[in-house]
Amino acid sequence: MSFSSCTAVKNMKDTVEFFDFQAPVYDLYQQSCIPKYPEMLSIVAGFTAHVCEGRDTVSILDLGCGTGNTTLTIARLLPRARFCCLDGSMKMLALAGSKLADVKADFVHANLGDSGWQSRRLDTPVDVAVSTFVLEHLPFDQYKRFLRNVRRIIKRGGWMIAAEGYGGDILHQLYFAEMAKLEDEFVAKGFMTAESINEMKQLSAEKEFHYFAYSHEKRQWWQDAGFEEVLTIRQYYCVGIIAGRQPL
Ligand SMILES: C[S@@+](CC[C@H](N)C(=O)[O-])C[C@H]1O[C@@H](n2cnc3c(N)ncnc32)[C@H](O)[C@@H]1O
Repeated sequence: MSFSSCTAVKNMKDTVEFFDFQAPVYDLYQQSCIPKYPEMLSIVAGFTAHVCEGRDTVSILDLGCGTGNTTLTIARLLPRARFCCLDGSMKMLALAGSKLADVKADFVHANLGDSGWQSRRLDTPVDVAVSTFVLEHLPFDQYKRFLRNVRRIIKRGGWMIAAEGYGGDILHQLYFAEMAKLEDEFVAKGFMTAESINEMKQLSAEKEFHYFAYSHEKRQWWQDAGFEEVLTIRQYYCVGIIAGRQPL
C-alpha cells in the first residue's frame, strides 16, 4: 500500500471539507440511511467483475473512494485485482487505508475538479474506472472535463461505471422521504442522536455542493466524451448507475 499526493490539490472544494468532518461516522450513516447504498455498490462490483471476466490481472481506479467501500466490494469478487483509490479528503483516505489493508491498493489525494488530477501516478491505463456517490459534486463544466480526462486513462475496451445522483423534483422528493424514514429508524436505534444528524445536515447544507442533471443528459455527455455503449444499468429514484465503454 502506498499514499501519494497529486500536485493539484488546490481549489479544494467545501464539499471535501464536509467529508473530512463526516468521515468518522460516514460508514455507519451511509450504510443505514442512504436508500439502496449497499445494493448500488454490489451492482457496480458485479458489473465490474463481469466486464473483467477472463482477464488475469486487472487494474481498477476508484474515483472518490471515500472510506473504501466500493473497492472492498469489488475486491471480494476480484481478489487479484490491483486498485488505485483517489479522494480529495485525507480523512476519508486514511479510513480507506485501514479498511483496505489486505487489498492491493495505492492511494492518491487529488481533486477530481482539477484539470490535472489524472497526472503522475495515474498515467498507467486501467481496465475499469468506478465512482460511487461522487460525480454529482462536480459542476457541469468540470464533470465534462472529468469525462474526457478519465477516458484517457482507461484501456481500449475498458469501462467507466458511475453511481451518482440525478435531477428531477419528484424523484428527489421520493428519495429524500425514504432517507428521512431511514434516519428516524437510525436515531430510534440509538446509533446517532437527532442533534448530531441535524448538525451534520446543517454543515452539509452549507458546504456540500451538488449539481444535478437528468440521467439522459449525463448519458449524452458520456457519449460526447467518446464513451460507447453508454447505458443506465440501474436507477432508484434520483440515484442511478451509468456504464460506458472506451472504444476498442
Ligand atoms: C458520498 S462520498 C462517496 C464515497 C464512496 N465512493 C462511497 O460510495 O462510499 C463522496 C466522496 O467523494 C469525495 N469527493 C467529493 N468531491 C471530490 C472532488 N472534487 N475530488 C476528489 N474527491 C471528491 C469526498 O471526499 C468523499 O469521500
